[in-house]
Amino acid sequence: MIQTVGVIGAGQMGQGIAQVLACASINVCLVDLAQQALDSALLTTSSSVAKLQEKGKLNSATNPLPFIQTSTDMQLLADCDLVIEAVTEDEMTKRTIFESLNQICRPDAILASNTSSISIGRLAAIVDQPERMIGVHFMNPVPLMPLIEVIEAKQTSTESVAAVQQLAERIEKTAVVVKDRPAFVLNRILLPTINEAIRVVEEGTASAEQVDQIMTLGAGFPMGPLALADMIGLDTCLSILDLMFVELKDSRYLPAPLLREQVVAGRLGKKSGEGFYQYA
Ligand code: CAA
Repeated sequence: MIQTVGVIGAGQMGQGIAQVLACASINVCLVDLAQQALDSALLTTSSSVAKLQEKGKLNSATNPLPFIQTSTDMQLLADCDLVIEAVTEDEMTKRTIFESLNQICRPDAILASNTSSISIGRLAAIVDQPERMIGVHFMNPVPLMPLIEVIEAKQTSTESVAAVQQLAERIEKTAVVVKDRPAFVLNRILLPTINEAIRVVEEGTASAEQVDQIMTLGAGFPMGPLALADMIGLDTCLSILDLMFVELKDSRYLPAPLLREQVVAGRLGKKSGEGFYQYA
C-alpha cells in the first residue's frame, strides 16, 4: 500500500494534491525549487482546510500540516512509494524531472505526472522501468473536484493502475482510467469549448461576462468558460491547445489569436491578477 507520496511543484495543483493526500493522513514530501512556493503552499493548505471545514465540505478532521514535509532538494523523494510531478506544462521541464527521479527514487516507486496533455508514453520512455509511469490528472480546484483522470500508457502496468485506483479511493476521489491520447479526455473536450468562447469574445458577438452568463444560466455550467479559463491559467490553456493542434493536426484546436495575445501580454488569468476578468 502507498504510504508516502512525493509531490513535485508547490503551485496551484501541487499544493492541492498535497492537501488532499495529507487530509487522508498520507505522508507527503512536497518539493519545489523555491522555498517561498513551499511556504506559501503550507499557508494556502491551512486556509483552504479552514474554509472547507467552516462550510462543512471536509469529512476528515485531520490537520494536514503534520503530514507534509517540504524541501527544495529532490533527495527528499528517495524513499517515496509514489511521486507525482505537478510542475509547469512544459515537456522539457518534465523530462528533466523524470530523468532525475529515475536516479533518485526506488526502482519500485510509481512515477506519475499530473500533466493535462503531454504523452505519458513519451515520459515513460525516459525511465528504466517504464511500467511504473502513469498519468494522474487532478482537476482544479483539487480539494473540491472529485475526479482523477488516470492515464494508462502502453507501457503502464496493471499494478501501477491498481495502486493509483486504491489511492484515489483513500482520498475520496473517483478515478476514471483512459488511454494515452493527446490531451486525454477532459481537455480534449473542455479546451475547444474554452477556445470557442474566446473566439466569440474576439469577434465581438458578446462580452466575456455575457458569454459566461449564457453558459452558466443557459447550459448549467458551474462557472462560465472564460472564468474557468482564468482559473486554469491562460498560459496553460494555450499550451494544451498548441499541443493538441500539433499532435491531432485539426484546425478545431488552433488557439484563438486573442488567447495568445493575452498570454503574450502577461494576462494569465487569476494567478497574474488579470485575464478575461480582473482579480484583487
Ligand atoms: N479550497 C477551499 N475553498 C476553495 C478552494 C480551495 N482550493 N477553491 C475555491 N474555494 C472556495 C472559493 O474561495 C469560494 O469561497 P467563498 O464562497 O468564500 O468565496 C467557494 O469555494 C466557491 O464556492 P461556491 O459556493 O461559489 O461554489 P461551489 O462550491 O458550488 O463550486 C467550484 C465551486 C467547485 C469551483 C465550481 O464553481 C466548479 O465546479 N467550477 C468548475 C471547475 C472546473 O471545471 N474545474 C476543472 C477545470 S479543468 C482542470 O482543472 C484540468 C486542466 O487540465 C485544465
